[in-house]
Amino acid sequence: MSTKHTSTVIVTGGAGYIGSHTIIELLEQTNYNIVSIDNFSNSNQDTFDRIEAITGKKVLNLNVDICNLEALELAISKVKNPIGIIHFAAFKSVPQSVHDPLLYYHNNLGSLINILKICQQLQIANFIFSSSCSVYGNVEKLPVTENTPFQKAESPYANTKQMGEEIVANYTKSETNFKSVLLRYFNPVGAHPTGLNGEYPRSRPDNLVPYITQTAAGILQKLTVFGGDYDTRDGSCIRDYIHVSDIADAHVKALNYLIENKQKEATSIFNLGTGNGVSVLEAIKSFEKVSEQKLNYEVGPRRAGDVINIYANNDLVKKELNWNPKYDLDAMMLSAWKWQLNLGK
Ligand code: NAD
Ligand code: WQD
Repeated sequence: MSTKHTSTVIVTGGAGYIGSHTIIELLEQTNYNIVSIDNFSNSNQDTFDRIEAITGKKVLNLNVDICNLEALELAISKVKNPIGIIHFAAFKSVPQSVHDPLLYYHNNLGSLINILKICQQLQIANFIFSSSCSVYGNVEKLPVTENTPFQKAESPYANTKQMGEEIVANYTKSETNFKSVLLRYFNPVGAHPTGLNGEYPRSRPDNLVPYITQTAAGILQKLTVFGGDYDTRDGSCIRDYIHVSDIADAHVKALNYLIENKQKEATSIFNLGTGNGVSVLEAIKSFEKVSEQKLNYEVGPRRAGDVINIYANNDLVKKELNWNPKYDLDAMMLSAWKWQLNLGK
Protein backbone atom coordinates (compact mmCIF):
# COMPACT_ATOMS: atom_id res chain seq x y z
CA MET A 1 0.00 0.00 0.00
CA SER A 2 2.83 2.36 -0.70
CA THR A 3 1.70 4.50 -3.62
CA LYS A 4 -1.24 6.78 -3.07
CA HIS A 5 -4.10 6.46 -5.55
CA THR A 6 -4.99 9.46 -7.65
CA SER A 7 -8.72 8.73 -7.49
CA THR A 8 -10.94 9.99 -4.71
CA VAL A 9 -13.77 8.24 -2.92
CA ILE A 10 -16.35 10.64 -1.47
CA VAL A 11 -17.98 9.56 1.78
CA THR A 12 -21.06 11.58 2.75
CA GLY A 13 -21.83 11.50 6.47
CA GLY A 14 -18.18 10.65 7.10
CA ALA A 15 -18.24 12.15 10.60
CA GLY A 16 -21.10 9.87 11.62
CA TYR A 17 -21.15 6.48 13.26
CA ILE A 18 -21.00 4.14 10.25
CA GLY A 19 -19.34 6.63 7.88
CA SER A 20 -16.36 7.13 10.21
CA HIS A 21 -15.80 3.39 10.64
CA THR A 22 -15.99 2.98 6.88
CA ILE A 23 -13.40 5.73 6.37
CA ILE A 24 -11.11 3.85 8.78
CA GLU A 25 -11.49 0.64 6.73
CA LEU A 26 -10.99 2.51 3.45
CA LEU A 27 -7.81 4.12 4.77
CA GLU A 28 -6.52 0.80 6.03
CA GLN A 29 -7.51 -1.40 3.12
CA THR A 30 -7.20 0.82 0.03
CA ASN A 31 -5.05 3.57 -1.42
CA TYR A 32 -7.89 5.86 -2.45
CA ASN A 33 -7.84 9.46 -1.46
CA ILE A 34 -10.84 9.94 0.88
CA VAL A 35 -12.95 13.09 1.18
CA SER A 36 -15.86 13.33 3.61
CA ILE A 37 -18.88 15.61 3.27
CA ASP A 38 -20.63 16.24 6.55
CA ASN A 39 -22.35 19.28 8.06
CA PHE A 40 -22.10 17.86 11.60
CA SER A 41 -25.87 17.94 12.03
CA ASN A 42 -25.55 14.72 14.05
CA SER A 43 -21.82 14.50 14.74
CA ASN A 44 -18.81 16.69 15.31
CA GLN A 45 -15.33 17.50 14.09
CA ASP A 46 -13.67 15.33 16.78
CA THR A 47 -14.46 12.25 14.72
CA PHE A 48 -11.61 13.15 12.38
CA ASP A 49 -9.15 13.30 15.30
CA ARG A 50 -10.30 9.83 16.30
CA ILE A 51 -9.87 8.57 12.74
CA GLU A 52 -6.37 10.03 12.73
CA ALA A 53 -5.54 8.45 16.11
CA ILE A 54 -6.48 5.03 14.72
CA THR A 55 -5.09 5.28 11.18
CA GLY A 56 -2.43 7.97 11.44
CA LYS A 57 -4.12 9.73 8.52
CA LYS A 58 -5.85 13.08 8.20
CA VAL A 59 -9.12 13.23 6.29
CA LEU A 60 -10.52 16.31 4.59
CA ASN A 61 -14.14 17.08 5.44
CA LEU A 62 -16.25 19.49 3.39
CA ASN A 63 -18.70 21.07 5.79
CA VAL A 64 -21.78 21.59 3.61
CA ASP A 65 -25.43 20.70 3.81
CA ILE A 66 -25.93 18.22 0.98
CA CYS A 67 -29.47 19.54 0.58
CA ASN A 68 -27.92 22.81 -0.65
CA LEU A 69 -27.08 21.94 -4.26
CA GLU A 70 -25.17 25.13 -5.02
CA ALA A 71 -22.89 24.77 -1.98
CA LEU A 72 -22.44 21.09 -2.72
CA GLU A 73 -21.44 21.72 -6.35
CA LEU A 74 -18.93 24.35 -5.27
CA ALA A 75 -17.36 22.11 -2.61
CA ILE A 76 -17.17 19.04 -4.84
CA SER A 77 -15.68 21.01 -7.75
CA LYS A 78 -12.44 21.00 -5.73
CA VAL A 79 -12.33 17.20 -5.36
CA LYS A 80 -9.82 15.59 -7.74
CA ASN A 81 -10.85 12.55 -9.80
CA PRO A 82 -13.91 11.36 -7.88
CA ILE A 83 -14.35 7.68 -8.69
CA GLY A 84 -17.20 6.74 -6.35
CA ILE A 85 -19.57 7.97 -3.67
CA ILE A 86 -20.65 6.18 -0.50
CA HIS A 87 -23.76 7.99 0.65
CA PHE A 88 -24.38 7.68 4.41
CA ALA A 89 -25.65 11.19 5.16
CA ALA A 90 -29.22 11.05 6.43
CA PHE A 91 -31.23 11.41 9.62
CA LYS A 92 -31.96 8.08 11.28
CA SER A 93 -34.18 8.36 14.33
CA VAL A 94 -37.43 6.46 13.88
CA PRO A 95 -39.36 8.31 16.66
CA GLN A 96 -38.07 11.71 15.48
CA SER A 97 -39.26 10.90 11.95
CA VAL A 98 -42.75 10.15 13.27
CA HIS A 99 -42.74 13.47 15.09
CA ASP A 100 -41.31 15.52 12.19
CA PRO A 101 -41.79 13.65 8.91
CA LEU A 102 -41.07 16.65 6.67
CA LEU A 103 -37.62 17.03 8.19
CA TYR A 104 -36.91 13.42 7.25
CA TYR A 105 -38.33 13.57 3.72
CA HIS A 106 -36.48 16.83 3.09
CA ASN A 107 -33.10 15.77 4.45
CA ASN A 108 -32.97 12.12 3.42
CA LEU A 109 -34.49 12.45 -0.03
CA GLY A 110 -33.23 15.98 -0.79
CA SER A 111 -29.64 14.99 -0.04
CA LEU A 112 -29.94 11.79 -2.08
CA ILE A 113 -31.31 13.58 -5.14
CA ASN A 114 -28.56 16.22 -4.94
CA ILE A 115 -25.80 13.67 -4.59
CA LEU A 116 -27.13 11.78 -7.62
CA LYS A 117 -27.18 15.06 -9.56
CA ILE A 118 -23.50 15.38 -8.71
CA CYS A 119 -22.90 11.86 -10.03
CA GLN A 120 -24.63 12.88 -13.25
CA GLN A 121 -22.76 16.17 -13.64
CA LEU A 122 -19.33 14.68 -12.91
CA GLN A 123 -19.99 11.27 -14.47
CA ILE A 124 -19.21 9.43 -11.24
CA ALA A 125 -20.09 5.82 -12.00
CA ASN A 126 -19.95 3.99 -8.67
CA PHE A 127 -22.51 4.59 -5.93
CA ILE A 128 -23.30 2.92 -2.62
CA PHE A 129 -26.45 3.75 -0.68
CA SER A 130 -27.09 3.14 3.05
CA SER A 131 -30.35 1.33 3.30
CA SER A 132 -31.88 -0.45 6.24
CA CYS A 133 -33.70 -3.63 7.21
CA SER A 134 -36.54 -1.29 8.12
CA VAL A 135 -37.48 -1.35 4.39
CA TYR A 136 -38.93 -4.85 4.93
CA GLY A 137 -41.49 -3.73 7.52
CA ASN A 138 -43.18 -6.52 9.48
CA VAL A 139 -42.32 -9.64 7.51
CA GLU A 140 -43.93 -13.01 7.94
CA LYS A 141 -41.15 -15.34 6.85
CA LEU A 142 -37.67 -15.48 8.41
CA PRO A 143 -34.84 -15.12 7.71
CA VAL A 144 -35.28 -12.14 5.40
CA THR A 145 -33.73 -12.46 1.94
CA GLU A 146 -33.19 -9.61 -0.49
CA ASN A 147 -36.26 -10.86 -2.37
CA THR A 148 -38.58 -10.73 0.62
CA PRO A 149 -41.33 -8.32 -0.48
CA PHE A 150 -41.52 -4.98 1.32
CA GLN A 151 -44.43 -4.47 3.68
CA LYS A 152 -45.74 -1.00 4.37
CA ALA A 153 -43.04 1.22 5.91
CA GLU A 154 -43.59 1.47 9.66
CA SER A 155 -42.27 5.05 9.92
CA PRO A 156 -41.45 8.07 7.76
CA TYR A 157 -37.77 7.16 8.29
CA ALA A 158 -38.29 3.66 6.86
CA ASN A 159 -40.28 5.19 4.01
CA THR A 160 -37.30 7.43 3.11
CA LYS A 161 -35.24 4.24 2.74
CA GLN A 162 -37.87 2.47 0.61
CA MET A 163 -38.17 5.57 -1.58
CA GLY A 164 -34.41 6.17 -1.55
CA GLU A 165 -33.77 2.67 -2.88
CA GLU A 166 -36.23 3.27 -5.69
CA ILE A 167 -34.71 6.63 -6.58
CA VAL A 168 -31.25 5.05 -6.82
CA ALA A 169 -32.56 2.10 -8.86
CA ASN A 170 -34.51 4.39 -11.25
CA TYR A 171 -31.53 6.65 -11.78
CA THR A 172 -29.20 3.67 -12.30
CA LYS A 173 -31.53 2.33 -15.00
CA SER A 174 -31.53 5.66 -16.80
CA GLU A 175 -27.72 5.96 -17.05
CA THR A 176 -25.65 3.48 -19.03
CA ASN A 177 -22.45 4.16 -17.15
CA PHE A 178 -23.76 4.17 -13.61
CA LYS A 179 -23.74 1.26 -11.16
CA SER A 180 -25.08 1.09 -7.64
CA VAL A 181 -25.15 -1.09 -4.55
CA LEU A 182 -27.89 -0.83 -1.94
CA LEU A 183 -26.77 -2.14 1.44
CA ARG A 184 -29.53 -3.01 3.90
CA TYR A 185 -28.02 -2.89 7.37
CA PHE A 186 -29.72 -4.85 10.12
CA ASN A 187 -28.78 -3.56 13.63
CA PRO A 188 -25.31 -1.99 13.54
CA VAL A 189 -23.71 -1.95 17.00
CA GLY A 190 -20.33 -1.81 18.71
CA ALA A 191 -17.32 0.39 18.15
CA HIS A 192 -13.87 0.18 16.64
CA PRO A 193 -12.07 -2.71 18.43
CA THR A 194 -9.54 -0.24 19.86
CA GLY A 195 -12.43 1.50 21.64
CA LEU A 196 -11.20 4.79 20.17
CA ASN A 197 -14.14 5.46 17.86
CA GLY A 198 -17.81 4.75 18.27
CA GLU A 199 -21.25 6.24 18.07
CA TYR A 200 -21.51 9.92 18.99
CA PRO A 201 -23.46 9.84 22.24
CA ARG A 202 -26.82 11.51 22.42
CA SER A 203 -28.12 12.31 25.88
CA ARG A 204 -30.83 9.67 25.84
CA PRO A 205 -30.36 6.97 23.24
CA ASP A 206 -33.27 5.05 21.71
CA ASN A 207 -31.16 2.09 20.67
CA LEU A 208 -30.45 -0.91 22.85
CA VAL A 209 -26.65 -1.08 22.95
CA PRO A 210 -25.90 2.58 23.82
CA TYR A 211 -28.70 2.30 26.39
CA ILE A 212 -26.96 -0.72 27.93
CA THR A 213 -23.51 0.92 28.03
CA GLN A 214 -24.83 4.23 29.41
CA THR A 215 -26.73 2.35 32.11
CA ALA A 216 -23.63 0.39 33.04
CA ALA A 217 -21.66 3.64 33.15
CA GLY A 218 -24.20 5.13 35.56
CA ILE A 219 -25.37 7.83 33.12
CA LEU A 220 -28.79 6.20 32.92
CA GLN A 221 -30.40 4.56 35.90
CA LYS A 222 -31.97 1.44 34.56
CA LEU A 223 -32.59 -0.36 31.29
CA THR A 224 -36.11 -1.50 30.56
CA VAL A 225 -36.41 -4.58 28.38
CA PHE A 226 -39.36 -3.74 26.17
CA GLY A 227 -41.55 -6.81 26.56
CA GLY A 228 -40.92 -10.21 28.07
CA ASP A 229 -44.03 -11.98 26.85
CA TYR A 230 -43.43 -12.24 23.10
CA ASP A 231 -43.59 -15.56 21.34
CA THR A 232 -39.79 -15.97 21.23
CA ARG A 233 -37.43 -18.35 23.03
CA ASP A 234 -37.14 -16.12 26.13
CA GLY A 235 -40.04 -13.72 25.59
CA SER A 236 -37.92 -10.73 24.46
CA CYS A 237 -37.57 -9.39 20.89
CA ILE A 238 -35.03 -10.78 18.44
CA ARG A 239 -32.71 -8.77 16.18
CA ASP A 240 -29.67 -9.32 14.00
CA TYR A 241 -26.93 -7.24 15.65
CA ILE A 242 -23.92 -6.65 13.44
CA HIS A 243 -20.57 -5.08 14.33
CA VAL A 244 -20.06 -1.65 12.77
CA SER A 245 -16.56 -2.59 11.55
CA ASP A 246 -18.05 -5.56 9.67
CA ILE A 247 -20.54 -3.18 8.07
CA ALA A 248 -17.63 -0.86 7.20
CA ASP A 249 -15.68 -3.74 5.66
CA ALA A 250 -18.65 -4.62 3.46
CA HIS A 251 -18.56 -1.09 2.02
CA VAL A 252 -14.93 -1.49 0.99
CA LYS A 253 -15.82 -4.77 -0.69
CA ALA A 254 -18.88 -3.27 -2.37
CA LEU A 255 -16.81 -0.38 -3.69
CA ASN A 256 -14.18 -2.70 -5.15
CA TYR A 257 -16.95 -4.86 -6.63
CA LEU A 258 -18.33 -1.85 -8.48
CA ILE A 259 -14.98 -0.41 -9.53
CA GLU A 260 -13.80 -3.80 -10.80
CA ASN A 261 -17.10 -4.26 -12.68
CA LYS A 262 -17.95 -7.53 -10.99
CA GLN A 263 -21.62 -6.79 -10.45
CA LYS A 264 -24.25 -8.92 -12.18
CA GLU A 265 -26.89 -6.22 -12.19
CA ALA A 266 -26.73 -2.45 -12.56
CA THR A 267 -28.18 -2.18 -9.04
CA SER A 268 -27.11 -4.87 -6.58
CA ILE A 269 -28.85 -5.29 -3.24
CA PHE A 270 -27.35 -6.96 -0.19
CA ASN A 271 -28.49 -7.64 3.36
CA LEU A 272 -25.82 -6.85 5.94
CA GLY A 273 -26.45 -8.96 8.99
CA THR A 274 -24.75 -11.89 10.70
CA GLY A 275 -27.72 -14.17 10.06
CA ASN A 276 -28.09 -14.81 13.81
CA GLY A 277 -31.14 -13.72 15.71
CA VAL A 278 -30.26 -12.51 19.21
CA SER A 279 -32.81 -11.70 21.92
CA VAL A 280 -32.62 -8.60 24.12
CA LEU A 281 -31.95 -10.80 27.16
CA GLU A 282 -29.15 -12.63 25.33
CA ALA A 283 -27.58 -9.28 24.38
CA ILE A 284 -27.69 -8.22 28.05
CA LYS A 285 -26.14 -11.54 29.15
CA SER A 286 -23.30 -11.10 26.66
CA PHE A 287 -22.70 -7.55 27.89
CA GLU A 288 -22.61 -8.68 31.52
CA LYS A 289 -20.10 -11.39 30.65
CA VAL A 290 -17.61 -9.20 28.77
CA SER A 291 -17.91 -6.18 31.06
CA GLU A 292 -17.80 -8.37 34.17
CA GLN A 293 -20.62 -6.52 35.86
CA LYS A 294 -24.31 -6.85 36.55
CA LEU A 295 -26.55 -4.56 34.55
CA ASN A 296 -29.43 -2.81 36.28
CA TYR A 297 -32.43 -3.85 34.17
CA GLU A 298 -36.01 -4.95 34.44
CA VAL A 299 -38.45 -6.50 32.04
CA GLY A 300 -41.15 -3.94 31.33
CA PRO A 301 -44.02 -3.31 28.92
CA ARG A 302 -43.74 -3.71 25.16
CA ARG A 303 -42.63 -0.73 23.05
CA ALA A 304 -45.24 0.37 20.50
CA GLY A 305 -44.36 -0.53 16.94
CA ASP A 306 -41.59 -3.04 17.72
CA VAL A 307 -41.00 -5.86 15.26
CA ILE A 308 -40.98 -9.11 17.26
CA ASN A 309 -38.35 -11.04 15.38
CA ILE A 310 -36.12 -10.17 12.41
CA TYR A 311 -32.80 -11.45 11.13
CA ALA A 312 -31.06 -11.67 7.80
CA ASN A 313 -30.29 -14.33 5.31
CA ASN A 314 -26.81 -13.14 4.29
CA ASP A 315 -25.93 -15.83 1.72
CA LEU A 316 -25.92 -13.39 -1.20
CA VAL A 317 -23.49 -10.86 0.26
CA LYS A 318 -21.16 -13.65 1.39
CA LYS A 319 -21.11 -15.11 -2.10
CA GLU A 320 -21.02 -11.95 -4.20
CA LEU A 321 -18.77 -9.72 -2.09
CA ASN A 322 -16.82 -12.50 -0.42
CA TRP A 323 -17.73 -10.84 2.87
CA ASN A 324 -17.87 -12.63 6.18
CA PRO A 325 -18.68 -10.94 9.47
CA LYS A 326 -15.69 -11.31 11.81
CA TYR A 327 -17.09 -10.15 15.13
CA ASP A 328 -19.43 -12.17 17.34
CA LEU A 329 -21.90 -10.81 19.88
CA ASP A 330 -19.35 -10.74 22.73
CA ALA A 331 -16.91 -8.76 20.57
CA MET A 332 -19.69 -6.30 19.66
CA MET A 333 -20.52 -5.76 23.33
CA LEU A 334 -16.90 -5.54 24.45
CA SER A 335 -16.04 -2.89 21.84
CA ALA A 336 -19.17 -0.88 22.75
CA TRP A 337 -18.14 -1.03 26.41
CA LYS A 338 -14.53 0.00 25.65
CA TRP A 339 -15.85 3.01 23.75
CA GLN A 340 -18.17 3.93 26.62
CA LEU A 341 -15.25 3.71 29.08
CA ASN A 342 -13.18 5.83 26.75
CA LEU A 343 -15.92 8.49 26.69
CA GLY A 344 -15.98 8.53 30.46
CA LYS A 345 -18.88 8.27 32.83
P1 NAD B 1 -25.09 9.22 11.92
O1 NAD B 1 -26.15 10.18 12.27
O2 NAD B 1 -24.09 8.87 12.95
O3 NAD B 1 -24.30 9.72 10.62
C1 NAD B 1 -24.92 10.43 9.58
C2 NAD B 1 -24.04 11.64 9.28
O4 NAD B 1 -24.61 12.38 8.19
C3 NAD B 1 -23.93 12.60 10.48
O5 NAD B 1 -22.56 12.84 10.76
C4 NAD B 1 -24.64 13.87 10.01
O6 NAD B 1 -24.03 15.03 10.53
C5 NAD B 1 -24.51 13.77 8.49
N1 NAD B 1 -25.59 14.43 7.74
C6 NAD B 1 -26.94 14.20 7.85
N2 NAD B 1 -27.61 14.97 7.00
C7 NAD B 1 -26.69 15.71 6.31
C8 NAD B 1 -26.76 16.68 5.29
N3 NAD B 1 -27.92 17.09 4.78
N4 NAD B 1 -25.60 17.22 4.82
C9 NAD B 1 -24.40 16.83 5.32
N5 NAD B 1 -24.27 15.90 6.28
C10 NAD B 1 -25.40 15.35 6.78
O7 NAD B 1 -25.83 7.89 11.38
P2 NAD B 1 -25.24 6.45 11.07
O8 NAD B 1 -25.72 5.52 12.12
O9 NAD B 1 -23.80 6.53 10.77
O10 NAD B 1 -26.05 6.10 9.76
C11 NAD B 1 -25.49 6.27 8.47
C12 NAD B 1 -26.50 5.82 7.43
O11 NAD B 1 -26.85 4.47 7.66
C13 NAD B 1 -27.80 6.61 7.43
O12 NAD B 1 -28.24 6.76 6.10
C14 NAD B 1 -28.74 5.69 8.19
O13 NAD B 1 -30.09 5.92 7.83
C15 NAD B 1 -28.26 4.33 7.73
N6 NAD B 1 -28.59 3.24 8.66
C16 NAD B 1 -28.20 3.35 9.98
C17 NAD B 1 -28.52 2.33 10.86
C18 NAD B 1 -28.15 2.42 12.32
O14 NAD B 1 -28.77 1.73 13.14
N7 NAD B 1 -27.15 3.21 12.70
C19 NAD B 1 -29.23 1.20 10.40
C20 NAD B 1 -29.58 1.13 9.05
C21 NAD B 1 -29.26 2.16 8.19
C1 WQD C 1 -33.43 -3.31 19.52
C2 WQD C 1 -34.20 -4.17 20.50
C3 WQD C 1 -36.14 -3.14 21.47
C4 WQD C 1 -34.02 -0.14 23.84
C5 WQD C 1 -33.90 0.64 14.91
C6 WQD C 1 -34.59 1.20 13.71
C7 WQD C 1 -34.12 0.52 12.45
C8 WQD C 1 -32.61 0.54 12.35
C9 WQD C 1 -31.95 0.05 13.59
C10 WQD C 1 -31.91 2.41 11.02
C11 WQD C 1 -35.70 -4.07 20.33
C12 WQD C 1 -35.11 -3.47 22.52
C13 WQD C 1 -34.30 -1.18 22.98
C14 WQD C 1 -34.33 -0.30 25.24
C15 WQD C 1 -35.10 -2.53 24.79
N1 WQD C 1 -32.11 1.85 12.13
N2 WQD C 1 -34.83 -2.36 23.44
N3 WQD C 1 -34.85 -1.51 25.65
O1 WQD C 1 -35.84 -0.95 16.92
O2 WQD C 1 -34.50 -2.91 16.06
O3 WQD C 1 -34.20 -0.74 15.01
O4 WQD C 1 -32.49 0.75 14.74
O5 WQD C 1 -32.17 2.06 9.90
O6 WQD C 1 -34.71 1.18 11.39
O7 WQD C 1 -35.99 0.99 13.87
O8 WQD C 1 -33.33 -1.07 17.32
O9 WQD C 1 -31.82 -0.69 19.20
O10 WQD C 1 -34.08 0.47 19.20
O11 WQD C 1 -33.98 -1.98 19.57
O12 WQD C 1 -35.58 -3.59 25.22
O13 WQD C 1 -34.14 0.60 26.05
O14 WQD C 1 -33.92 -3.73 21.83
O15 WQD C 1 -37.43 -3.41 21.93
O16 WQD C 1 -36.23 -5.33 20.55
P1 WQD C 1 -34.59 -1.45 16.37
P2 WQD C 1 -33.26 -0.72 18.85
